[in-house]
Amino acid sequence: MASLLPNPASFPTLICPFLCAATFLFCAVAGDGRVPAIYVFGDSTADVGNNNFLPGNTAKANFPHNGVDFPAKRPTGRFSNGYNGIDFLGMHLGFRRSPPPFLSIASKIHRRIARGIGGVNFASGGSGILDSTGSTISLANQIRNFETVRSNMTAHLSETQANQFLSKSLFIISTGGNDIFAYFSRNNAPNVTEKEQFIATLSSNYQYHIKKLYNVGARKFGIIDVPPIGCCPFTRSSNPTGGCVDVLNELPSQFNRAAMFLMHDLTLTLKGMKYSIGSSYKVVSNIIRDPSALGFKETKTACCGGGKFNGQFSCVPNATLCSDRNHYLFWDLLHPTHAASKLAGLAIYGGSTQFASPINFKQLAEEEY
Ligand SMILES: *[C@@H]1O[C@H](CO)[C@@H](O)[C@H](O)[C@H]1NC(C)=O
Ligand SMILES: *[C@@H]1O[C@H](CO)[C@@H](O)[C@H](O)[C@H]1NC(C)=O
Ligand SMILES: *[C@@H]1O[C@H](CO)[C@@H](O)[C@H](O)[C@H]1NC(C)=O
Repeated sequence: MASLLPNPASFPTLICPFLCAATFLFCAVAGDGRVPAIYVFGDSTADVGNNNFLPGNTAKANFPHNGVDFPAKRPTGRFSNGYNGIDFLGMHLGFRRSPPPFLSIASKIHRRIARGIGGVNFASGGSGILDSTGSTISLANQIRNFETVRSNMTAHLSETQANQFLSKSLFIISTGGNDIFAYFSRNNAPNVTEKEQFIATLSSNYQYHIKKLYNVGARKFGIIDVPPIGCCPFTRSSNPTGGCVDVLNELPSQFNRAAMFLMHDLTLTLKGMKYSIGSSYKVVSNIIRDPSALGFKETKTACCGGGKFNGQFSCVPNATLCSDRNHYLFWDLLHPTHAASKLAGLAIYGGSTQFASPINFKQLAEEEY
């Protein structure tokens, strides 16, 4: 399973993280695998703390044992023992980690951006592509929040400067899993026609949001596809056999295929649009197929949680916590560990077309503008 890892020759070590922190200009030169800013949208696979600011919401992770392996053992709102996949992608792109959550910095954003720093993370755990999915910040509202940031940018930059800055920046979207869970909870045995109809609805809504981002300046899209959610501890724990739930792997697989066509089609009409689709589906299924080859031992039970497979309760302060966290695929009932996210970040940033296509995130970042 060595193919999961990128060819070392095509994967140079990051040479100037400290320089980057001091001044992004050194690192924003085209062609070096870096971008001036990252804007992140999506669900709990990408959230770095926006939901901490939503009163009364339950899709939160800003308490232990979350963050037990984060610097200073700090729970941040990430659904992980340490970093999530967006943090690792951010590091590969020359940043410290994911940009900060929108809601933590709303009033400071325009100053940060005028200084050319970093970007913003708008992702909100529990959200989906469809407005009807979840009760947190919908993708549509995340994009509205981005529009506020953009209009503040133009208070400091000309329209042309803002567009140039945004066209070089990377727009990462990681979503879709919650829409599939929500659909499954209404219809757990869809027939062929129903599946096709649902996937078509999901894709056309995704297309609408991506066009909307393009219309407000996005050009480089990094899409993270939907993992095989039929094999996560939450799903297994609901299956009397303890096995994966097939339809919850089929729907993501169908949706991911639709997303490939969708993104390709969009490039035919949206001038200057570039994209990469990073496959969390492939990363997770490769780990499940041959865990030991990739350094994992446990792919069924979550490290933190309760009940069957630690998949019936979320990772709360009194939940069970495993000790060898680096050997677990799943951190909690739904989300990957720091170790699995690290592997995903590596494969999607610098890996082969199996893991990121038609180009990987490094190549996407290097595309000239
Ligand atoms: C936009 O700028 C206004 C005025 O400077 C500020 O009050 C607001 O918080 C800013 N919003 C964002 C999202 O940056
Ligand atoms: C699928 O299910 C719907 C009702 O839920 C039904 O109307 C339709 O005929 C079914 N299609 C097939 C191909 O079985
Ligand atoms: C954790 O504590 C809550 C009450 O705060 C209780 O309802 C729950 O059963 C406990 N969970 C475990 C795994 O002990």
